Amino acid sequence: MEHVELAAGELLLRPWQDEDAPAVRDALRDPAIAQWNPQGDDLIDDEVALLWVRRRADWSAGDHASLAVTSAVDGELLGSVSLHHIRNGDASIGYWTAPAARGRHVALRAVVRLTDWAFADLGLHRVELCHAVANPASCRVAERAGYPAEGTLRESYRYGDGRRYDEHLHARLATDR
Ligand SMILES: CC(C)(COP(=O)(O)OP(=O)(O)OC[C@H]1O[C@@H](n2cnc3c(N)ncnc32)[C@H](O)[C@@H]1OP(=O)(O)O)[C@@H](O)C(=O)NCCC(=O)NCCS
Repeated sequence: MEHVELAAGELLLRPWQDEDAPAVRDALRDPAIAQWNPQGDDLIDDEVALLWVRRRADWSAGDHASLAVTSAVDGELLGSVSLHHIRNGDASIGYWTAPAARGRHVALRAVVRLTDWAFADLGLHRVELCHAVANPASCRVAERAGYPAEGTLRESYRYGDGRRYDEHLHARLATDR
């Protein structure tokens, strides 16, 4: 899969670069991001952050499309948005927003833009979004991004603290309005 850049108003979604590693290191150490992602924050040093960035910059396997969410004005790194497990017209979407950028609907706008691209350009049919029931901000992002809730998955995912949490499954179809 070829890299893309997606403009979304004052946001620019662009491929990850090595230079993002220090900001990623700081973001992955944020307690909320560490909690609601699988990696936790135990060993997030410069090397781990650089590997994280390089994995997401490498789209060659065709199974993910991961983008840095940045300010189109000054290039500041604001967050992360990714399509994972792209296969047979399906994918799942994940995201985080750096602490300093929260409260401005950055994740919502990034999820909407990447989903539109997934349907229009990648030809996907269904994109799933899962979040811990204990993470209501993420539920709000999902609902507002047009991903209705489909049900609750019991103790379905091990998050950053190593514990299993119930999750809400949300999804959007290409044919949804
Ligand atoms: C979830 C997350 C991406 C949202 O960040 P954001 O893009 O800045 O979103 P906002 O702060 O603008 O909040 C989005 C909505 O959630 C609401 N919200 C924020 N914190 C909330 C909370 N603790 N409880 C309930 N609602 C909350 C906001 O009021 C807003 O609602 P609105 O759309 O009605 O205005 C961010 O909190 C984050 O990175 N969390 C840690 C990582 C994470 O949870 N990733 C998702 C894993 S599934």
